[in-house]
Amino acid sequence: MGFSKLWLDYRKLADTRRRVIISCDHSLKDSAAFEELKIAMASMVPEAIVVWKSEVFDDDSYLIVMTIHPELAEEEYDIAASENITEICAGSETGLLYGVFAFLRQTALSGKFCSFTAHSKPSQPIRMLNHWDEADGDIERGYSGKSFFFINEELEINERTVMYARLMASIGINGVVINNVNVRRKAKLLLSIEFAESLANLGELFARYGIKLFICPDFAAPKTICGLDTADPLDENVIEWWNTTCALVFGKIKNLGGFLVKADSEGEPGPMAYGRTHADGANMLARAIKPYGGIVIWRCFVYNCTQDWRDKKTDRACASYENFIGLDGQFDDNVYLQAKNGPVDFQIREPVHPLFGAMKNTNMIIEFQLAQEYTGQQKHVCWLIPMFKEIMEHHTCHDLPDDRVSRIVRGVAAVANTGDSYCWTGSELAAANLYGYGRLLFDENLTCDELAEEWTRLTFGDDEKVTAAVKEILLGSKQAYEDYTVPLGIGWMCHPNDHYGPSPWGYEFDRWGTYNRADRDAVGVDRSASGSGYSEQYAPALAEVYGDISKCPDELLLFFHRVPYTHRLHSGKTVIQHIYDTHFEGYAKAEHFAELWHGLEGKIDDRTFKNGCERFAEQLRCAKEWRDIINCFFHRLSGIDDENGREIY
Ligand code: GCU
Repeated sequence: MGFSKLWLDYRKLADTRRRVIISCDHSLKDSAAFEELKIAMASMVPEAIVVWKSEVFDDDSYLIVMTIHPELAEEEYDIAASENITEICAGSETGLLYGVFAFLRQTALSGKFCSFTAHSKPSQPIRMLNHWDEADGDIERGYSGKSFFFINEELEINERTVMYARLMASIGINGVVINNVNVRRKAKLLLSIEFAESLANLGELFARYGIKLFICPDFAAPKTICGLDTADPLDENVIEWWNTTCALVFGKIKNLGGFLVKADSEGEPGPMAYGRTHADGANMLARAIKPYGGIVIWRCFVYNCTQDWRDKKTDRACASYENFIGLDGQFDDNVYLQAKNGPVDFQIREPVHPLFGAMKNTNMIIEFQLAQEYTGQQKHVCWLIPMFKEIMEHHTCHDLPDDRVSRIVRGVAAVANTGDSYCWTGSELAAANLYGYGRLLFDENLTCDELAEEWTRLTFGDDEKVTAAVKEILLGSKQAYEDYTVPLGIGWMCHPNDHYGPSPWGYEFDRWGTYNRADRDAVGVDRSASGSGYSEQYAPALAEVYGDISKCPDELLLFFHRVPYTHRLHSGKTVIQHIYDTHFEGYAKAEHFAELWHGLEGKIDDRTFKNGCERFAEQLRCAKEWRDIINCFFHRLSGIDDENGREIY
């Protein structure tokens, strides 16, 4: 299957120059930055020849000067561009590559070589993608086809992998985990000799693009690979096995950044089986890879997934904090704890995870999900960047010099939404999530409007009607999705297992700890101090807001409180009327987006247009199900009619 170039499909500029001169040190001639300039210039100024250095510089030439300046940080760059010359300086080859991409982006958006200056360094030091790819080629929660890393149980490096590395570098991604956090079947052998060479090669390719390679190892590897009878992190033989194995693996795979580990969660092995703590497990691995500069990223997604729905005392939302807060300060300095953005699981609306700001002496990474598992599975358009931005800017109210999530975390990760589909993300519009994610981590000051505009124009060109329509769709899509799906932060209500489409009681009598507790009188979960106590996991100022029905923000009301349907929101509406209104409005918004898209026929390429039409048709079908089933569910339970007399079945 072929693949598109996404936002790197360089278009011809309004420029007739015949020569582009790239002036740089000889050592940079083989760099990815140099190569990218050559690729881009061949499309942007196709009549020009591209040469390295030159004595001749006339009106017919455009000069690009690249230099490395050790006083700049590794990933930092400076650009001074004019109509005839551009100078790009950076702290390293990777910084130069970022500078080159910034120059090309600006040039592409301007349609010509133009004057501008830029100085940039990333807002976040760790900017990762977590692929949930399986060695057999499936992707857990993948909505874009099969893995392009693993083909027939082997790691492939081909043109697509190179394109992938270019795309990721162009948005500033500097760490990629290539396999699923659930380490199954052949992936358990990733640390064995079988994969060493292909991992080393992939690592080398990634290194060229400033990306560290990460893998998810099997925590039980001493048993599965080596045949020991334990994986106890404090056992001498286990420690010895990891030390020896890591020496071999890191010796061979030069660009290995470290491990991402899901332990003691949803059936994955971990230290707790041996009566050890998460800190014991993480530190044991961290010590084994410290000599090679490796880091261990240890996930906080730990909860009891065999809960009894009758048990109203246990609250899954509390679990992650409860499992980790007591361990603050016990992790080695090359351990990072990775917590999901919210306490439960990538719902369309959740409060920010309470560990951010509370773990004062631990490196934290926040994990988002680009794969739209609960947000329409890349069939519905749901641009998540406004949500990511809001979460990064959220004030945790902890006593810190700057209490925002963005200043507390040491890095950001996101579950990837790519696969081997032609357009990488199943839906062309879903690529806007990937693009916006990387760009936002690099430059947190970019607004959603700017990010939507950049991506749209780089992807679709400069037709104003296309830009306006696509931007309107992107910018409104997340709210629309929230409106026609799950109200007021209650979460779930989707089909069990595949997590697509409405099923209000799908999870209600199940073991996953995700309940809405709706009955004829009330809906929501009491997580205040008098309920499960979850609200108390926040800093006092926030605990007070979340714990008090009269102060809790409307959009999270049912996450934190159980209220009667006639409860009046801050908006002035009752809960039940809010549910009806948002569901009718959300569906109407989706209809409007589909109309906007249909208006683009002939203005965007046919393949993209048709794919979009099919996906919008499915979005409308599914959104209608959500609207009618959720409205009907609450109407039947509450017996309260819609004030506006609309049809509820
Ligand atoms: C969700 C998802 C799983 C995944 C898990 C995780 O529960 O449905 O497929 O394994 O998150 O983040 O580990």
